[in-house]
Amino acid sequence: MRVAVTGTTGRVGAALSRHLSIRHEVIELPRTLCDLADSDSLAACLSGLDCDVFINPAGITSLEACEDDPRLAMRVNGAAPGKIAIWAAERGVRVIHFSTDYVFAGDSTVLLTESDPARPVSAYGRSKLAGERAVLAHPGNLVLRVSWVFGPEKPSFIDQIHARAMAGLPLAAVADKFSLPTCTADLAGWVDALLDTRAEGILHACNPGPPVSWHGMAESMVREMVAIGTLGELPAIEKQTLAGMTAFRAVRPRFTAMETRRLASLLGGMNFRPWQEALTDYVRTLTISRSD
Ligand SMILES: NC(=O)c1ccc[n+]([C@@H]2O[C@H](COP(=O)([O-])OP(=O)(O)OC[C@H]3O[C@@H](n4cnc5c(N)ncnc54)[C@H](OP(=O)(O)O)[C@@H]3O)[C@@H](O)[C@H]2O)c1
Repeated sequence: MRVAVTGTTGRVGAALSRHLSIRHEVIELPRTLCDLADSDSLAACLSGLDCDVFINPAGITSLEACEDDPRLAMRVNGAAPGKIAIWAAERGVRVIHFSTDYVFAGDSTVLLTESDPARPVSAYGRSKLAGERAVLAHPGNLVLRVSWVFGPEKPSFIDQIHARAMAGLPLAAVADKFSLPTCTADLAGWVDALLDTRAEGILHACNPGPPVSWHGMAESMVREMVAIGTLGELPAIEKQTLAGMTAFRAVRPRFTAMETRRLASLLGGMNFRPWQEALTDYVRTLTISRSD
């Protein structure tokens, strides 16, 4: 299959490009070749493109950047996916687009399903919801909602906690906001498998398991670091509150952990490991790569 992938300098795009190129011909479309904020660049990119599937993880992912410039956020995260979907529909190309658990308001206390109503509370969430709707206006397309993505492609919260723990620096993390993490290696494997299906509509694509806070993830990490001997003893981790995070100018939803039953059933017998397993695996990899 010829698979075009945007955002290949980002966490998800880089993982997809690497993984999918094992079985497919991948056409990388970084921002330098396909700027979603610039209609001329997007049109030029699409006009010469020949692919079977167009995968779009590119987008403005900083909540604060979206809050500061909601029009730009809407252009990149909302309007551009719509233009891609129109181009794709005219050519019979399937679009796989990436969205977020932040389309939800955060007032749930139970896992959110694909049919639960989306009510975003930030400019980022509103722009991503607009992108979802524009892509799904055409049959055959798939929207993958991911959350708290981590992997070796680009440092995230996980890597920061690991580096601080290794340096013996004080640790702190928000303890009253809950979601589910998504491991890039696992996500790339799921996308590869989904290419062989006709799955369409919305799909929640994070690692399963009990909802967790950033504090809970940090605790799991340092426990694993002690277990494998990277840390001598368990460090204390200060519990922060969402309300106390003055650096957050955009509103963050409190509970956005997503139900993944639909993905599990589409993947059939494929290994679909819980986030704790994916995270401890990643912590071990980080430790090995630091000691190389
Ligand atoms: N990361 C998470 O925790 C998370 C959580 C929920 C949902 N998601 C969704 O998952 C998808 C992938 O996220 P990610 O973690 O890979 O994000 P990321 O690491 O921030 O990467 C974003 C990618 O989008 C590209 N991009 C930004 N503005 C662009 C523009 N105007 N035109 C073309 N490309 C542009 C970036 O290119 P440059 O390198 O040139 O800036 C980068 O390659 C996004 O749709 C995001 O909304 C992510």
